[in-house]
Amino acid sequence: MKKCAAILTAGGDSPGLNAAIHAVGRVLLRSNYRLLGFMDGFEGIAFDRFVELTDSELAGILTAGGTVLRTSRHKPNKMPLGKKQLDMTGNIVENYRKHQLEALICIGGGGTHKSAMMLKKAGLNIITLPKTIDNDLSGTDSSIGFDTALNVAASAIDSLHSTASSHKRIMLVEIMGHKTGWLTLGSGMAGGADVVLIPELPYNIDKVAEALKKRSSNGKFFSIVPVAEGAIDCVTAERIKELENDIASSSDKTRKAELKNQLSALTAYNPARIFELARKLEELTGLETRVTILGYLQRSGTPSCFDRLLATQLGCRAAQAVIQKEFGCMIAYRNGTTELVPLEEISGKRQELTIDHPWVQCAMDSGIVFGN
Ligand code: F6P
Repeated sequence: MKKCAAILTAGGDSPGLNAAIHAVGRVLLRSNYRLLGFMDGFEGIAFDRFVELTDSELAGILTAGGTVLRTSRHKPNKMPLGKKQLDMTGNIVENYRKHQLEALICIGGGGTHKSAMMLKKAGLNIITLPKTIDNDLSGTDSSIGFDTALNVAASAIDSLHSTASSHKRIMLVEIMGHKTGWLTLGSGMAGGADVVLIPELPYNIDKVAEALKKRSSNGKFFSIVPVAEGAIDCVTAERIKELENDIASSSDKTRKAELKNQLSALTAYNPARIFELARKLEELTGLETRVTILGYLQRSGTPSCFDRLLATQLGCRAAQAVIQKEFGCMIAYRNGTTELVPLEEISGKRQELTIDHPWVQCAMDSGIVFGN
């Protein structure tokens, strides 16, 4: 009987997922393995929904965006079923054993790595691949999808210059990235932005307005301002710190729950926030201000060549890891090659964009304003 492995994609989709699936499949099939693809993230293995990834299933998928296996954010231990959330870890282990899998390859971001760690603890042979357009996975220099999203965001910023200058406007561009500013800063620097607002450096709105007015009075009649979806002003940042301290020191359950609600209201994504920022900036500067939200375009469409190559390299190494029985680790991309990193080292950790990062230093040196 042929040996068999399985693969799934979980979390938000990211360009390059199909290239990774393609690479894993090509290597395993050539080594006489079967490869199953579980559908819809961890839901597929929990409810045993899968496709057999044969040569013909793999043909032509390398360059396509999205994921042929579809995806979901559902966790093994919190799987929605009707109105309930069930712990399906037991069913996942059962289905893994039923198919006599040698290994399960999970491609995903931060949440997927926590789930993968849980399944490793439950006794499964797990291998993960890093993917996220947010670039916030620790332990790897690059994750599948970030480069494509960076290109999409930078090219949108490029394009906005012409209309911004024609109308002498401030252009706020909302960019994804969850709680980090990698995508915003990277595309802002690549696209020649003037002011960049990121979560890591909470901004003072008066300083931002001042910088925009100064540009205008210096004869630069338009400004491009990429704003990370997680960017916050310094007053909100202070309030978040206070709430976090209060939550940590509170022993009253009801009070704790109340404080947590207040905290998530401040930290959750709020599409109205950027329009409110535009309104305030217009008021403070007297300059016409418009908003562009790039949204899901940033993770749609075909992957860049870099992402195709990255995904292919990581996928090939993941298949080799199955064959060589190297389990319980993420295939990381480091210094242009692949390395195996134990899941314990990266699960639950985030790759922070710190103030001493060369991008931040270079942006500051070249006069990009963060408003901090
Ligand atoms: O993690 C990728 C990401 O695109 C984030 O940048 C964004 O905050 C989030 O996913 C959006 O998620 P959803 O697909 O659940 O709306």
